[in-house]
Amino acid sequence: MMLPFQTAFYSFTQMPPRKLAPKTKPAQQPAAHVDPTAPATASAPGLTSAGRGEGRPAPKPKQSAAAPSEDPSASSGAAGFLPPGAGHFRAKKNAFGRQFGAPLTVPRRIRDVPTSLIEAVNDFHYAMMNDTPRNEFYWNLLKRHIVPGVSSVLEIGAGSGLLSMMAARLGAKCVVAVEGSHDMAELARMNIRANGLQDRVTVLSMMSTDFLVKHFAAAAQAIDRASTTTAAAAPAEGSAKPSTDHSRPDILVSEIFGTLLLGESAHDYIQDIRERVLKPSTVIIPQFGKQYAVPIECPTLDRICSIDSWNGLDLRHVNAMQDTASVVFTKKYGFRLNTVPFKRLSDPICIANIDFKRVRRADILQEQRHEVVATQSGTANAMLLYWEASMDGEVMSTDPDLTRDNFPRDMQWGQALQLLDAADAGVSGASPAAESPLPVKLTVKGPVAPADGESRPGDRLGVLVALTDDRVVAQFKVRVV
Ligand SMILES: C[S@@+](CC[C@H](N)C(=O)[O-])C[C@H]1O[C@@H](n2cnc3c(N)ncnc32)[C@H](O)[C@@H]1O
Repeated sequence: MMLPFQTAFYSFTQMPPRKLAPKTKPAQQPAAHVDPTAPATASAPGLTSAGRGEGRPAPKPKQSAAAPSEDPSASSGAAGFLPPGAGHFRAKKNAFGRQFGAPLTVPRRIRDVPTSLIEAVNDFHYAMMNDTPRNEFYWNLLKRHIVPGVSSVLEIGAGSGLLSMMAARLGAKCVVAVEGSHDMAELARMNIRANGLQDRVTVLSMMSTDFLVKHFAAAAQAIDRASTTTAAAAPAEGSAKPSTDHSRPDILVSEIFGTLLLGESAHDYIQDIRERVLKPSTVIIPQFGKQYAVPIECPTLDRICSIDSWNGLDLRHVNAMQDTASVVFTKKYGFRLNTVPFKRLSDPICIANIDFKRVRRADILQEQRHEVVATQSGTANAMLLYWEASMDGEVMSTDPDLTRDNFPRDMQWGQALQLLDAADAGVSGASPAAESPLPVKLTVKGPVAPADGESRPGDRLGVLVALTDDRVVAQFKVRVV
């Protein structure tokens, strides 16, 4: 017997191919964006892979801010990240089973399902949805802001519909769930039907950059009409009078954060929807985000990222190849940072402090100069990048010290690392230090307490940060100043 969703996916394969991308969004053409399902290319600077949000800069993303207009052609399309499955057409050649030749076999339930969906779900959706503190973070915030029977909610990046269903369970009068992947949107519809929430949650399969006020108004009105005929959905006696103005949402919720906070272009997508679709009073959940970076000593990392010699054999030519330019995700290295010894050599610096109610890409400084004091002595092997999203006292963080008990979070987001090389740390600006043919280790001295000899403060570290045009990937140069 076929399960309901098998039927749906089988029927996809008989549908005519769709257009590859919306014609009004040249900046959203897959060819111009990094497709996380595609193999990394040598020309992708700042390459990262195998994490939430590839964090690779799209080649020349459009930098203009979203126009405050409903005209789809005026929408910014500014984001650099195109989620897996968005814009893919669902021809049979994308079927997961096609990758397996005889004598290998594929279970019938996933044979004809689009590869991008199977890969996205297995790569991170399971871990993400099992990240209970993440789910609770959203549940608590939605609970705080939803007025049962009154609030209207828009979710961008609905995935399998979990957050939208939370909103409906919490009493939202209507929920519009926007999902860029057609196949994922279909999965969300199935979940919503399975939970009997289809009268209050509408899933629209489109990128948020194509979403207009009229889409929201139409979906909300349809839900409104259905709910007035359903006694169960009527507001309780004495509760606030339901809003009749459903043309714009009361609440925007999204979880489009990558291993790097902005790896899935949350700043661009939220700015775009904020300027075109939201009203000034719309609550944005979560409202705040901070991307942190801190130099760390991690000998374990050094052992998988460098080699000097073995048994008297000089291997420095290999060491010369060390990549100190890219940002790499712990998930790609294949380890959890909090399971190996590492120490932070200073307090963190915040390279992006974001209020999603206001953020514009251009407000995130592309070149930054920070100074921190070493709090411990050691070799700065790498910059560690982690982030924090917050609102109303609720915090969700990828700080490895805070994810020790959260295996799913480390497996879906983890953290990002950039190896450091003191040789090219030209933080003084005009004339970078002469580059060495070999990577040079940066040693820093922490403070000395009076009890341990002549007291002195820790080294002052100059940190130069360069961000890609889309403000997603950061590159660090650190030196003792
Ligand atoms: C990380 S998942 C989160 C899913 C769900 N909200 C949850 O929390 O369980 C993000 C989803 O958003 C979709 N997505 C990302 N950016 C989007 C955008 N700008 N418009 C529509 N969908 C988007 C992706 O296809 C993916 O399914």
